[in-house]
Amino acid sequence: MKRKEFVRELVATVEAFAHTFDDDPPAYTYVPLTTDDQRVLVMKSRLYNELRATDLFGSWLATTPEFEVKAMMATSAHEEMTHAELLAERIRGLGHEPFDYRPLPAQTAMFNALAGLTDTCQRLAGFSLAGETVATHLTLMSLAAPSVPDWIKQPYRRITEDEERHGSAPQALLERYATTDESQDRARRAVAMRLVLFKEYLASLDRFAGGLSPW
Ligand SMILES: [Fe+2]
Ligand SMILES: [Fe+2]
Repeated sequence: MKRKEFVRELVATVEAFAHTFDDDPPAYTYVPLTTDDQRVLVMKSRLYNELRATDLFGSWLATTPEFEVKAMMATSAHEEMTHAELLAERIRGLGHEPFDYRPLPAQTAMFNALAGLTDTCQRLAGFSLAGETVATHLTLMSLAAPSVPDWIKQPYRRITEDEERHGSAPQALLERYATTDESQDRARRAVAMRLVLFKEYLASLDRFAGGLSPW
């Protein structure tokens, strides 16, 4: 498949997935939450995501020979750590401990699966393109919702500026590097895997934040 067409297909798949949440925003967006305890819990879960994202980008550097991709990952690792610091500070400011969170099993599965991706196009597609595009879409829902308090919106206004770029920059890189049918197929499957696991994580977080289940 032509490279441009291939990237357009991936983006369309990811955007269609992101829009499935438009009518019923998940707890992840903070939109349906009604208490600060629930909001802090979701923020701790998302702080965990920022830390795992930092680790993933950092751990991939040594096995990423493509110069521009390595540069993007190094910058992203630093930015993800900054996001973690912003959220940890906010949680502490509300009198809570940021690091006593135990990841949901689906969340652990999602990051462990991502850590197992071995080639550059899979990583760019499954983690950067798919994950960041969905996360940005959901975060923009938070920023637009009157039910989300300003103490949540403040850090996310800053975070979302970086994340929009984390989701869009990989498009050009995939266009450059996903040159064969095999590498396009691997990337496509990495996106599908990521979306399956993301969906399960969001559903788990809904149950957990709603007090319905420990996961
Ligand atoms: Fe982040
Ligand atoms: Fe990011």
